[in-house]
Amino acid sequence: MNNFLEMRKITKQFNDNVVLDQVDFCAGKGQVHALIGENGAGKSTLMKILAGLHMPDSGDILIEGSKVAINSPKQAQELGIAMIYQEIRLFPDLNITENVYIRREPMKNPRWCKLIDWEKAYEDTQKYLDYFGLKLNPRRPVNTLGMGQQKFVEIIKAVSQNANIIIMDEPTAALTDHEIDILFKVIGDLKKLGVTIIYISHRLEEIKRIADQVTVIRDGKVIQSCSIDEVDINGIIKAMAGKELEDRYPKLKVKLGKEQLRVEGLSYGGKLKDISFSIKKGEILGITGLSGSGRRTLTKVLCGFEGPYEGSLYINGKLFKSITPHMAKLNGLCFVTGIGTSEGLITNAPIQENVTITNMERVSKLGFIERTTEAEAAKDLIERLEIMASENEIVNNLSGGNQKKVIFAKWLFANAKILFIEEPTAGIDIGSKVDIYNIINELVTSGASVVMISSDLSEIVGMCDRVMVMYNGEARGIFNKGEVSQEDILYYASGGRG
Ligand SMILES: Nc1ncnc2c1ncn2[C@@H]1O[C@H](COP(=O)(O)OP(=O)(O)OP(=O)(O)O)[C@@H](O)[C@H]1O
Ligand SMILES: [Mg+2]
Repeated sequence: MNNFLEMRKITKQFNDNVVLDQVDFCAGKGQVHALIGENGAGKSTLMKILAGLHMPDSGDILIEGSKVAINSPKQAQELGIAMIYQEIRLFPDLNITENVYIRREPMKNPRWCKLIDWEKAYEDTQKYLDYFGLKLNPRRPVNTLGMGQQKFVEIIKAVSQNANIIIMDEPTAALTDHEIDILFKVIGDLKKLGVTIIYISHRLEEIKRIADQVTVIRDGKVIQSCSIDEVDINGIIKAMAGKELEDRYPKLKVKLGKEQLRVEGLSYGGKLKDISFSIKKGEILGITGLSGSGRRTLTKVLCGFEGPYEGSLYINGKLFKSITPHMAKLNGLCFVTGIGTSEGLITNAPIQENVTITNMERVSKLGFIERTTEAEAAKDLIERLEIMASENEIVNNLSGGNQKKVIFAKWLFANAKILFIEEPTAGIDIGSKVDIYNIINELVTSGASVVMISSDLSEIVGMCDRVMVMYNGEARGIFNKGEVSQEDILYYASGGRG
């Protein structure tokens, strides 16, 4: 086969941990090559080697048959390799254009003076925004954008480099179905231009839809590499996990208790309009909508991170006319943030410190932290959540999915009563997803309420007792389990009315 890119016998070790073991990976020109495997399998590490962020211990990389040296991200870029990282790496205070062109700003008449041609940069960014169907001003600071929109800025940044190899590491984790369609159209265009795309995703339906080739890795070794037509989804799952998968949505029937949270006529700064809903003990309420619909803002307002709001908030029957993060926490509310940001984690601290930070009292005596008690608590949660690392591992060194599980461990440890969980399983492999759903089941059976803010409609339909669909800051409807299909939800989320 004519391989545009070839990675040969790549081996990489972190400390004593062999993360990649003699990995061979090839991709053809103009092809979408899916790279899949469970959390911690080594996907991101392999691609970071290609993007010049890590050096392999051994192995070769060839482009069009010639060996190349990739010792830095800059060298990778010069060879035409661009990477959209799993976690968002934008400068929050800079605007969209500045982020897209940082360190490669277009110059005015470069032979004569070194002036940046901002006019051109803004113009080009506007063109990309239009091409992606995004109604955004190129001067808008990225910290005012939703997660999905931020991801698109990353995507534009990579696409605008005119690379001939683009690595997309879990690009759709924060995207809605509509946004995914846009991305897939762009991928189709890139293919026509002969760009090779390496596509990492845990969403296997996506892989079936767009990939030409697929490589499965497990524990740092290639298990299978073939054309997508040669495999079916169940076959891939089996190859990834080494075992068959049970029920994908293990929703339990839980007896509902008294109302824990009630929101009446809540409005906030034009972004939220007259929202009312309530949630009972033992209930899972789904909130969904396109990015920019206000789902995230609603959560932030209720947890005290944004405000002041108009309307009424009742927690366990008590009225709150305003709320701070501290008050929210004292009353059992917590916000488990989504993947793609390390928000909520101290990434340079070990797992155990991250887990206990929200509830120090549980591991302290007379004001001193007892590290052994802390380690034990962390070990217990690591086991329950099947986090693939020891309690003293630094969070930064964990794979994306395992970092997500640490956020979960933290809130489980804090005994939160009303959990707002954003994109609970984005970036989590299909086997561990069931673990997360079971953790959510455990939470609600022990008397907590869970608000699940998710773009994954099959998960919303499969796991929630009720679902609230948002559009443009409004609640467009609240439906009971079984009353709506994914298509119905999408209809309301796109502005449709009943
Ligand atoms: N900088 C690092 N230092 C030490 N260990 C690391 C580092 N980066 C990754 N690892 C370890 O390497 C293994 C593979 O991680 P990697 O991020 O490549 O997994 P992944 O397949 O991308 O998983 P996910 O689907 O969860 O993103 C994990 O065990 C991880 O803890
Ligand atoms: Mg990864």
